[in-house]
Amino acid sequence: MLNMQDSGFIENPYPALKELRAFGQPVWDEQLGMFLAATHKDANSVLRNRALGRIFKPKEPQSTWETFNWLHADSILDSEPPKHTRLRSLVMKAFNPKKIESLRPDVERLTNQLLDAIERKLSNQGEFDLIADFAEPLPVKVIASMLGFPDSDEHLLRPWSQAIVKMYEVSPSEQDKKDAIKASEEFADYVHGLMLERKKNPGTDLITDLALVEEDGERLNAHELIATCVLLLNAGHEASVNGFGNGMVATLKNQQQLALLKANPRGLAATAVDEFLRFDAPLHLFERTATEDTEIGGVSIATGQKIAALLGSAGRDETVFERADELDLTRDPNPHIGFGAGIHFCIGAPLARMEMTTSLPALVERFPNLELVSNPKRRPTFVLRGYESVMVRA
Ligand code: HEM
Repeated sequence: MLNMQDSGFIENPYPALKELRAFGQPVWDEQLGMFLAATHKDANSVLRNRALGRIFKPKEPQSTWETFNWLHADSILDSEPPKHTRLRSLVMKAFNPKKIESLRPDVERLTNQLLDAIERKLSNQGEFDLIADFAEPLPVKVIASMLGFPDSDEHLLRPWSQAIVKMYEVSPSEQDKKDAIKASEEFADYVHGLMLERKKNPGTDLITDLALVEEDGERLNAHELIATCVLLLNAGHEASVNGFGNGMVATLKNQQQLALLKANPRGLAATAVDEFLRFDAPLHLFERTATEDTEIGGVSIATGQKIAALLGSAGRDETVFERADELDLTRDPNPHIGFGAGIHFCIGAPLARMEMTTSLPALVERFPNLELVSNPKRRPTFVLRGYESVMVRA
C-alpha cells in the first residue's frame, strides 16, 4: 500500500515503488481502491489496453461542480473514441513536429529575455529561483502565446491551472475543492469570452483556429472548445515546469553529470531532457477504468475496476533500464513512458522537447557556475510531483 500523502514518500517515492515492482504484477491498493501497475511492462500495457478507458467520474453534487465536470468530460484527455478521435485530430495539426520546430526561434527569444532578467536579478540579490524565474514562465508564455492568450492576462493562468490540478491528487482538502470550483468557473468564462471575441476578430492563434474549425462538417461545440483550450493551457506547462525542475535539481546534485552537461550542453540536450523525464518523473500516476473484463500482467481486471499506470516507477524499472537509479544524461536509447503511450500519448511531446532542448543549453551556457543555495522544497503532491522553489546562485 502506498501512502501518497506521506512527506517521506513524496520526498523520495522510489524505494517504495521498487518494492511494488518486486511483486511482478499489478497490486490491489485497498486505500486507493485500484490496482497499481508499477513495472514498465504493466504500466505500458495499462495505457495501451483498449478495454481500459479514461472514464471521467463527475464530482458530486453536480450543480456545484458543473463547470469543473464539463471541463473534464468534454476535454480530449478525459474522453474516449469516437469523441476522443474527433477532438484529438482537430488539435494534432497545430502540434505536428514540423510546425512546432518552426516556433523554436520564438522560444529562443523568450528564453533569452528570461535569462537577461535573471542576470539583472543576480546582480541585485545574488540568487534566483529556477522554478519561478525560469522553468515556469517559459512554457506558460509559449502555450499562452500559441493559443492567443493576451500577455497582460498571463498571470491569471498559473493560479487557475494549479487550483484545478490539485484535484488530481488523492485527498484534496475542502479549501482545495472550493478553489478548484472557483478557478474552473473563472477560467471557463474567460476562455469563452476570448473565443467569442476571436470569432468576431479572427487572429492567427489556436483559439481562433479552433473557434472557426469545421472538421468533417462537425464543429466543436462551445464546451468542447473551452475544455480543449483549458486542457492545452494546463497540460501545456504543468508537467514541463516540474520535469525541468526535477531534472535540473538531480543534475545539480550530481557533479559528474553536471560536468558532462557543462562540457557539451547543446550536444547533450536531447538525451538529457528524456533522462530528466525518466529519472524523476513530473507525472506519476494515470488512472484507467475497465470498460470490459480484461487482464494486465496476469491479473484479472473486472469491468468497472480501476487500475493506475505508475509512470515514475516504470522509469526506474531495472529490467528495462540499466543502472535505473542512476542519472545518465547520455542515456540512449531511453524508452521511458513519461509522455504516456497509446491513444492518449501526449500531444505536446514535440513542444515540450523543443522547449526543454532550447532552454536547457541556454541556461547552462549563460550560467556555467549554477549551484543550489539550499536543499529545495518539494510540493506536497505525488501525482504531479515537483519543487515549490529551487534557489540557485551562479
Ligand atoms: C514534460 C512535459 C510533459 C509531459 C511529461 C507530459 C505527459 C503527458 C502524459 C503522460 C499524457 C498521457 C496521459 C494519459 O495517458 O492518461 C499526456 C497527455 C496530453 N498532453 Fe502532455 N506532457 C507534457 C507536456 C505537454 C505540453 C507542452 C502540452 C501542450 C499542449 C501537452 C498536452 C497534452 C494533451 C492535450 C494530452 C492529452 C492527449 C490525449 O488524451 O489524447 N503536454 N501528457
